[in-house]
Amino acid sequence: MAFSDAERAAMHRALELAATPGVPLGPNPRVGCVLLGPDGLEVAEGFHKGAGSPHAEVAALAEAGDEARGTTAVVTLEPCNHTGRTGPCAEALVAAGVRRVVFAQADTNPVATGGGETLRVAGVEVEGGLLADEARALNRAWTFAVENRRPFVTWKFATTLDGRSAAADGTSRWVSSPAARRDTHRLRALCDAILVGTATIEIDDPQLTVRDETDQPLPRQLLRVVMGERDIAADRRVLDGAAETVHLRTRDPLAALTTLFARDVQHVFLEGGPTIAAAFLKAGLVDEVVAYVAPMLLGSGRSAVGDLGIDTIADAFHLDVTDVTVLDGHDGNDTDVRITLSPAPAQRRT
Ligand SMILES: NC(=O)c1ccc[n+]([C@@H]2O[C@H](COP(=O)([O-])OP(=O)(O)OC[C@H]3O[C@@H](n4cnc5c(N)ncnc54)[C@H](OP(=O)(O)O)[C@@H]3O)[C@@H](O)[C@H]2O)c1
Repeated sequence: MAFSDAERAAMHRALELAATPGVPLGPNPRVGCVLLGPDGLEVAEGFHKGAGSPHAEVAALAEAGDEARGTTAVVTLEPCNHTGRTGPCAEALVAAGVRRVVFAQADTNPVATGGGETLRVAGVEVEGGLLADEARALNRAWTFAVENRRPFVTWKFATTLDGRSAAADGTSRWVSSPAARRDTHRLRALCDAILVGTATIEIDDPQLTVRDETDQPLPRQLLRVVMGERDIAADRRVLDGAAETVHLRTRDPLAALTTLFARDVQHVFLEGGPTIAAAFLKAGLVDEVVAYVAPMLLGSGRSAVGDLGIDTIADAFHLDVTDVTVLDGHDGNDTDVRITLSPAPAQRRT
């Protein structure tokens, strides 16, 4: 594969455009596009602003107008071949007279795939794979969901230093510090759905909304998901009007994820409790773990994770640490440690 320096620089710019802050997360990937003239200079650029708005290529073509003819389109995702709320990008590029298309990540989404081939058939030169890893990382959950036909699952939990999620009398507020709780809201906001078991709803009555630093709800709320067979009492906060809620009357994690995937959920934030977490771990359906560890000991009380059916150390569930961050305590609050991990490949079902 041969890419020019100008194409490489343009792809870096396209990735930057795709990551423009404020673009709502949702069922669509983040995509950026730069059109280069025959002299390697930029003619126009565009990015996708979310479902229902023009795709990145179409936005760039609109900006370029007649100057699009003879350009090279440098785009972070293979142009789509699909007529959804907007027309296929591959056809728009052909109609605009684009000479060459360089893309980063191939689009394996069954409803959109084949754009590269459509372009080739129409006589456009096509090269893929430039900065593909960066493009995949940009849309980590989207890529995972498209390739695995289920949402990416992040299990978040708060624990004491001795691995307890609640004290012997069942009290668990607040294991985590205010800084850890704020950080949790930041991570929630990156997901599409937040999932807990029926017992957490019964015992803790959480609202499961996403709030900002001043505890105000964000405009975009996640789908709230409660999993388990028992009824949810009508007075529970999760049933208020602050966000949509779905009750999945199942104990089967894969069935739950399949249902959520069909609703365009690509990233699930699994917030417990220990029973639900253990069920997902045993099924190999946890893709990332975020643990907030508080500097306190309880010595008794619920374990942060339920029984995994492991009796001997040789069978321990292994994870790789990908990040360790200290969340400073202020005003006398605890300093917590956030550990981010990914389950070892053998522990995951993809
Ligand atoms: N420290 C933390 O990060 C954290 C986070 C959340 C909760 N908590 C604490 O955890 C406690 C609740 O823990 P928990 O483990 O009892 O609650 P849970 O995991 O929220 O819910 C357990 C319930 O989920 C249902 N369920 C759904 N799928 C299941 C499956 N595959 N296997 C078994 N049960 C399944 C069952 O109820 P059905 O009978 O309805 O099917 C089960 O009783 C609370 O005290 C809460 O404070 C701590």
